[in-house]
This record gives sequence, structure tokens and C-alpha cells, in this order.
Amino acid sequence: MAEFQIRRYRDEDQEAVKETFIIAMSEHIPSAFLHMLRQPVVQATLACVFCTLLASSGSMLLPVLAVTLILAGARQLVDYSFTLYIEACHKGGLDCVRKAYMEGVDSCFWVAESEGLVVGTVACLPSRKHAGKECLELKRMAVRRSHRGLGIGKSLCRSVAEFGRDKGYRQVLLYTSVVQADAQKLYEGVGYRRVGESVVPELLAKLLNFTLIEYRYKLIEGDG
Ligand SMILES: CC(C)(COP(=O)(O)OP(=O)(O)OC[C@H]1O[C@@H](n2cnc3c(N)ncnc32)[C@H](O)[C@@H]1OP(=O)(O)O)[C@@H](O)C(=O)NCCC(=O)NCCS
Repeated sequence: MAEFQIRRYRDEDQEAVKETFIIAMSEHIPSAFLHMLRQPVVQATLACVFCTLLASSGSMLLPVLAVTLILAGARQLVDYSFTLYIEACHKGGLDCVRKAYMEGVDSCFWVAESEGLVVGTVACLPSRKHAGKECLELKRMAVRRSHRGLGIGKSLCRSVAEFGRDKGYRQVLLYTSVVQADAQKLYEGVGYRRVGESVVPELLAKLLNFTLIEYRYKLIEGDG
């Protein structure tokens, strides 16, 4: 079993951190596409196009071609949405981890290192939605596929919780999406509670029912 250690970010980790996070996030493209295909509105649209073209042309070729083209276009749209999300992550701190996470008193970035390689990442910073020391937000959780199932995700969660307690925070919050099944299992397994769901505000996300799930973890025992 590969050994690993969790340690704070160093400047030389910058490129490996970006790569680890981007690869892990890109893995969700196929599951997001499947989620899209499962939506009744998408299935109804495809069925409508297929039947209309079949009735009007009397041939199978045209409807099959049209549905294939729509599916290819839909897949491109999902790819594009992820590209936008990853760009937003870059601008939101991944491009300069030190500035975004290592200079503030209540924020931090950790990496999991194994045999000299960065194989996992996690960050935290004060939640913008809450005042004072109410909530710390966990972000940028990712583990390289080659090192999954070894407890790295759990250890990264623990680093954030210990940091939050030391800094006097009451809870940790995080958001994950409906297609990130492994992440949901990880968070529930370490004691996070699902407290809410919301659909991403963009039109495409609304149409496809792309839900964000909010999780919370209490740092103070017996806290209401
Ligand atoms: C989510 C993720 C970080 C988990 O990392 P990990 O190092 O494999 O997690 P761990 O080894 O600590 O596993 C923790 C728990 O998660 C669950 N789990 C993790 N991967 C799982 C899988 N493939 N299948 C089933 N359960 C899984 C298990 O319950 C496990 O607990 P157990 O070992 O006691 O059974 C990793 O899968 C990942 O990077 N995914 C892609 C990026 C992502 O979605 N990040 C979350 C952003 S919100």
C-alpha cells in the first residue's frame, strides 16, 4: 500500500496541484453527460425529434442522424460547461495558491504527498456567506485516481477540521454536486450532514436539474 503524508502547500507544488485538481474534476464529464441524458426533458426532446423526423421523412436514417448530432452537441456543451468551471477555479485561486490560501490567517491549502508526488489536494477559507467564525468552507478536494481508496480523502478532511477547531470555527461547510458520488460518500463517511440542495442558477444547469448539495460538519461537540 502506498504511503502518504499530508502537509501544507509549498510554492513548488503549484503546477502539480493544478494538474491533480483539473484531472479529478474532468473525470465528472461523463457522469454529468449521463445525468443530462436521464432528465425527462432531454429524453422527451430526443423522442420528439426522432418521431417527427421519422414521420415526415419515412426513413430511419434522418432521425438517427439528427439524434446522434444532438447528442454530440450536448456532449460538447457539457465539456464547455466544465471548461468554464475549471477556468473559474483557476481565477478563484488555483492559479496562485499561495496568494489565495496561504496568506490569510484563517485559510490554508494542504497536499497529500506520496513518493515525492502530489497526489491529493484540499483547501479551506472563511465562508463568505457567514460572519465571523461561524463557518469555514472546504474547497478543492481531489485525489489522483491511482491513489484513491487509501484514506487520503479522509485525512485531508481531518486536516481541515483540525485547522478549523484551532482557529475557533463552529462548523465546516462545503458544496458538491449531484454527479460527485464518491465525494458524497467520503463526506458522509467522515460525519458531514447534508443540509440543503440548490440548482445551479445558469439556464442550462436549471434545465438539466444540475443540483449542488451543501454539507456541514460541526466542529464543536453538542453545538446546536
Ligand atoms: C472524493 C475523493 C476525494 C475521495 O478520495 P479517496 O482518497 O479515495 O477517499 P478515501 O480513500 O479517504 O475514502 C473515504 C470514503 O469514501 C468512500 N469512497 C471513496 N471512493 C469510493 C468509491 N470509489 N466507491 C465507493 N466508496 C468510495 C468510502 O466510503 C470511503 O470510506 P471507507 O474506506 O471507510 O469505505 C476522490 O474520489 C476524488 O478525488 N474524486 C474526484 C474529485 C471530486 O469529486 N472531489 C470532490 C469535490 S467536492
